[in-house]
Amino acid sequence: MSRDIRLLQISDPHLFASPSGALRGVESLASLQRVLAHAGGRKPPPDAVLCTGDIVNDEPAGYAHFARELEKLAKPVYCIPGNHDDPASMRSALGQPPFQVGGHADLGAWRIVLLDSCVPGKAGGHLRDAELAALDAALSASERFALVCVHHHPVSMASRWLDAVGIDNAEALFEVLDAHPQVRAVSWGHVHQLFDARRRGVRLLATPATCAQFLPLSERFAVDGRPPAYRRLTLRADGTIETEVVWVEAAAEVRDSAHLLG
Ligand SMILES: [Fe+2]
Repeated sequence: MSRDIRLLQISDPHLFASPSGALRGVESLASLQRVLAHAGGRKPPPDAVLCTGDIVNDEPAGYAHFARELEKLAKPVYCIPGNHDDPASMRSALGQPPFQVGGHADLGAWRIVLLDSCVPGKAGGHLRDAELAALDAALSASERFALVCVHHHPVSMASRWLDAVGIDNAEALFEVLDAHPQVRAVSWGHVHQLFDARRRGVRLLATPATCAQFLPLSERFAVDGRPPAYRRLTLRADGTIETEVVWVEAAAEVRDSAHLLG
């Protein structure tokens, strides 16, 4: 219980059936592979991996690519569905260790709770009563510090189009979280951009995608030119959190242009 826990958070891989499938001009499988290779070069290695949804881009055959790439890490991989996932296919493809979809996991002094905010056929999110009750039960049953993971954003991203597809009953989520002071952070995906704020002492984090990013603070949908990224989290035994987002520049393309210039 006294050791620090290290997590690698990736989000929104948006994989396709075809290995060369691309989202907004970014080949998503190659981009995920580059992100994992970059993260794998960082020490110390993570104790577990967290993926906050949109594992595939509406093509369930993409789960096989995800499973193959993540199994190589030989670490637990905690997953939640996003609006582009197919929950049934996801649970079937990722239903065995090292994968876990939903529920919660205990690591050291921390409990990681995995929430499902998806609504079939909708881009926006909602937390069903049963999901909120499961969250409350998971937090009531343990005195561990808690990191709550969810796909959709529970606060405004100051972006009109994105704020229309967040969690539509976030106040119900915060009502549960406010009743459990051991909750230290909420971390989500969906928004394909970095966010880091606090609410009543709870860290609120969004992690950029492993593929194309969305332009922050934009009224309308717009792609951002920032590169793929991942987040490193250190969950300290004293309940504090250290975290950083690492942007993975396209080293191969940089080398290619240097070659062309030379
Ligand atoms: Fe996404």
